[in-house]
Amino acid sequence: MSAETAPLATPYRTHTCGQLRVDDDGADAKLAGWVHRRRDYGKLIFIDLRDRHGITQVVVDAADAPEAHAEASKVRNEFVIAVEGAVARRQPGTENAKLATGAVELQARRVRILNEAKTPPFYVNDPDAPIDESIRLRYRYLDIRREAMARRLLLRSRLVQAIREAHHAHGFVEVETPNLIKSTPEGARDFIVPSRLQPGTVYALPQSPQQLKQLLMVAGVDRYFQIARCFRDEDLRGDRQPEFTQLDLEMSFVDEDAVRGFIEQMVIEVTRATVPERPIRQIPFPVFEYEDAMERFGSDKPDLRFGVELFDLAPALGASSGFRVFDETLAGGGRVKGITAPGMGGVSRREVDELTELAKRFGARGLVHLSVQPGGELHGPIAKFLSAETQAAVRGAAGASDGDLILVVADKQETTNDVLGRLRNEIAARLGLADPNELAYCWVHHFPMYQWDAEHRRWDATHNPFSGVVPEDEPLLTTLSGDLDVRDPGDPAGRAKAMQYDVALNGWELGGGSVRIWKPDLLARSFNLQGYTVEQMRERFGAILEAFEYGAPPHGGIALGVDRWAALLSFQTNIREVMAFPKTQSGSDLMLEAPSAPDEEQYQELGLRFVGVPEKR
Ligand code: AMO
Repeated sequence: MSAETAPLATPYRTHTCGQLRVDDDGADAKLAGWVHRRRDYGKLIFIDLRDRHGITQVVVDAADAPEAHAEASKVRNEFVIAVEGAVARRQPGTENAKLATGAVELQARRVRILNEAKTPPFYVNDPDAPIDESIRLRYRYLDIRREAMARRLLLRSRLVQAIREAHHAHGFVEVETPNLIKSTPEGARDFIVPSRLQPGTVYALPQSPQQLKQLLMVAGVDRYFQIARCFRDEDLRGDRQPEFTQLDLEMSFVDEDAVRGFIEQMVIEVTRATVPERPIRQIPFPVFEYEDAMERFGSDKPDLRFGVELFDLAPALGASSGFRVFDETLAGGGRVKGITAPGMGGVSRREVDELTELAKRFGARGLVHLSVQPGGELHGPIAKFLSAETQAAVRGAAGASDGDLILVVADKQETTNDVLGRLRNEIAARLGLADPNELAYCWVHHFPMYQWDAEHRRWDATHNPFSGVVPEDEPLLTTLSGDLDVRDPGDPAGRAKAMQYDVALNGWELGGGSVRIWKPDLLARSFNLQGYTVEQMRERFGAILEAFEYGAPPHGGIALGVDRWAALLSFQTNIREVMAFPKTQSGSDLMLEAPSAPDEEQYQELGLRFVGVPEKR
């Protein structure tokens, strides 16, 4: 908890618990806070008094202040108290270098108990005490009293402040968009809210302010941003919550370079303002074509803090390598690729089995491992099938030397890349290859516009249904038959690349955005490829289609996940750790006990009944 110097004096205190220093020696001070720890030596009672700014040691001496001493004997951990007294240097040798206030103590003249506290369900004052997460979430207000949690919320607050400052400095206008809206397609399910005034209808909570921010561009706002709350009913993971926060922005009269240029500048400014001590690995941020990122890292959110790139073994293996699985995979149009785990050649059988199990869990049929022996020979269950020449070629492609372990996957391209991409992260974690302090931002762009959905016979937008196509590929969307309701897997639109970009940070997708389709005819065509009939388009996107007929400027933007950003900047792997009141894996708020069944009255007012589930849970 940082010792801030802002004047926070109130009738209860002259200073915060993180503020007093040697310079204050001899001064009178009043402090208020929670009892962090109390040590009772009979005549002398020591109280560590805590607020979110820090901890100050209070000494209560029965000889000097008998009433204060009597009061202090009653206090217990987490009582709220107010203390008045004189600041004094601590005795030489009793200073506490770990506390910002550790050179002084407050010698109490008066102690007042403002409020008592029950014994908390966990030790608020022990940062290392293992606490079940459900207990932390159930008593989140106590959890936030703990220093680590409080520190993360402060970092998040600094992050949001820096975001606001950077945008104002660059001519952006902060606009709030409503939360009771109509469904916006971002690929997840909507949360819906029944309307009382219009029975039988619902609002949808925004999955993002996407359409509204585009409408703001039509409105001439020019540069918009918002710290926007978004809602998505999807399965939860460490980097996903049903309710989360985006830094959402949109700019007019931009092309991809202009919009990415601003975002990169802003990300650098915000990072430096929030965590000045952490190095940004590379500026300008590296930029990868989507296909290259998949080919080299097996991921569209590569962690660039380490190498271990994927390599293609096809040239080394040729048409008949001697190992049937490889040959058949290649003949069938699949891929045989690998990664090299430096220095892991000597790992135990057990560890290899673990990696194989992991690969299978990631979707591979199996995992081939080859360790490089001194002299260059490859060892492993399939090594005997490979000639000395092939072995040398494999070693060359892998860039492997003595003592390295080569891991190979043979499968469909998508599976091969994906499995190796995940193993790459696993190997780096096991070998500690990433510098945890480093912030490796990068761009991945030019995603395919669409992917064919055979089941529904339509082209799904790979990211955002409003993404624009790169100018060179525009003809691929426009040259097709005028019949809007024909969709086929051979459509040249399948080859089109989107002006779509993601920012990745240390292996996480931090944000995604695009330059939009801003011409109404192209937008209609794009929606149609995605399976929306003209009527459905009007029904779902009527406002934006209509607005586009009144002069839309070229525009583009992005949304960055604020929770993810705050988590990565504070070394966390779960965004719950940077959210004050997050939900559990199953979407519950354990503290407020949400979700819960509506009251009978609410049912009636809304004209609702749940069907097929018990009405009272
Ligand atoms: P997208 O859907 O990629 O883009 O979301 C942008 C960023 O929001 C964060 N995010 C989440 N964070 C926590 N929990 C979730 N459930 C969750 N879902 C998304 C991620 C993600 O990168 N409207 C577009 C943006 C645009 O095109 O301008 C959009 O929402 O960090």
